Amino acid sequence: MDRRPIGVFDSGLGGLTAVKELRRLLPHEDIVYFGDTGRVPYGTRSDGTIVRYARSDMDFLLRFDPKRVLIACGTVSTVALKVLRREYDLPLEGVVEAAAAAAAARTRRGVVGVMGTAATIRSGEYERLIRAAAPSVKIVSVACPLLVPLVENGRTDPEDLVVSTVVGEYLAEIRAAGADTVVMGCTHYPLLERAIDAGMDGGAVLISPGREAAERIARALERDGAGNAPDHAGTSAYYVSDAAEGFAAAAERFLCEPVSGVVEKVDVE
Ligand code: DGL
Repeated sequence: MDRRPIGVFDSGLGGLTAVKELRRLLPHEDIVYFGDTGRVPYGTRSDGTIVRYARSDMDFLLRFDPKRVLIACGTVSTVALKVLRREYDLPLEGVVEAAAAAAAARTRRGVVGVMGTAATIRSGEYERLIRAAAPSVKIVSVACPLLVPLVENGRTDPEDLVVSTVVGEYLAEIRAAGADTVVMGCTHYPLLERAIDAGMDGGAVLISPGREAAERIARALERDGAGNAPDHAGTSAYYVSDAAEGFAAAAERFLCEPVSGVVEKVDVE
């Protein structure tokens, strides 16, 4: 048994899609979340800046002595995970390895679409990991820089003309290639799941990286006997780097439940 919390971080709110899955799968675990709302977005930045930001996010979470950390950010997972694993001596789970494995396993026609931030697509990490698992799969990767701002501004309704137009444009190449599986390769994108599903005419399996990674963590805790006490009611604490006011309302859209527990602004720089 290990009573220490699980640390989770993202550039902003998107990682809460992973927290939602962790809460569902691991109700006895304490979760400490850091959302770098003062520096979001990461996906438009250089690799060096993303690594620097990720180090400060990690250093902040280490104050809570986490038993493991979930990097619930597609951008950090593709650009910085290898560096962070070398530098930090605790189990680090990203969201990309799990999502790539799921895509390789679930495609039937062997054509996978990958949506992600500019940095994630530039990294080529999804292609590398999917090909390692399934060498003959055709992969169509599309950078979708307008989706994070849409989600952060609460524009996720598939009936919203702006949403359907932007999502439709990003999906055009993926549809044309005949993809039957689409990786929503940024943890913000599951909030657009209905719009992405509509954009694919309901004909594709949609992979949520946060969900896949949360399932990996649940399996790892089980395997290592590292879960919290079964009679413990798991708690959540949320830290952000910009104003905490308004965080709860925004977070509820991601978590699909009221925010309970600490919500606090911190300085990680
Ligand atoms: N949730 C982050 C990701 O998964 C958002 C990226 C950003 O900050 O641009 O990539």
